Amino acid sequence: MPRKIVAGNWKMNGTQAALSELAYIAAAAGDVSCTTILCPPTTLLQAAAQSSGSLAIGGQNCHHEATGAHTGDVSAQMLADVGAQYVIVGHSERSTAYCESDENIADKFNQIKKYNMTPLLCIGENLIEREAGIMEKVVSEQIKTILDLYGQDIFKGSIIAYEPIWAIGSDSAASPDQIQQMCEFIKQLINTNIEDNNDVNIVYGGSVNAKNAVQLCEINGVDGILMGRASLDLNEFYEICNGIHKI
Ligand code: PGA
Repeated sequence: MPRKIVAGNWKMNGTQAALSELAYIAAAAGDVSCTTILCPPTTLLQAAAQSSGSLAIGGQNCHHEATGAHTGDVSAQMLADVGAQYVIVGHSERSTAYCESDENIADKFNQIKKYNMTPLLCIGENLIEREAGIMEKVVSEQIKTILDLYGQDIFKGSIIAYEPIWAIGSDSAASPDQIQQMCEFIKQLINTNIEDNNDVNIVYGGSVNAKNAVQLCEINGVDGILMGRASLDLNEFYEICNGIHKI
């Protein structure tokens, strides 16, 4: 059975004080049979990477260009330089707030691969798109933009997170049926468009917590989870890793 992926995104939370607790989850990461990834804010990346043990560390975003006059931004090379192994790209909170296009996201994806990190590409529809029944079209376009601009090889070894926007930060995750249908659709899309696709993983994100994480990971086509709020409580993070370890 392939290792499940358990990724946590701290978003804009966490100061240096949180690092002392990180040692706890870093030690636990070595004992569980899942790939655990933590994406702290950029200010904590270097320190987190230095004390992370088996816990992999990722950035939450990078600029779509390599260098330049982009005040306040961070490049993929800078993230790799301080020890990031993964980078979240295309998260809806970011793409909505900063008006990022699918092309911008494709360029970021390319930058992440260029510096040998693993992109954690977030795709998914908003509520209007779901109610209009066009969720498959939306995620197809998100993936196809990257394929058209950079070719199929760029997806090698990447993680795709199906994150229905309406389930993020809400009180309830998407239903198992909705998740299975979309993750299987994405897997089929990958299989049809990418020849060498064995190491492309698909995870689910949106209101994952200690109560539903195991069940979500057991859905056909789901290779793991991406969580926001639940990753801030390290006891809950640990409980989730431990539960998935036992699947
Ligand atoms: P949430 O966030 O788990 O707090 O819903 C998920 C995400 O943004 O990926």
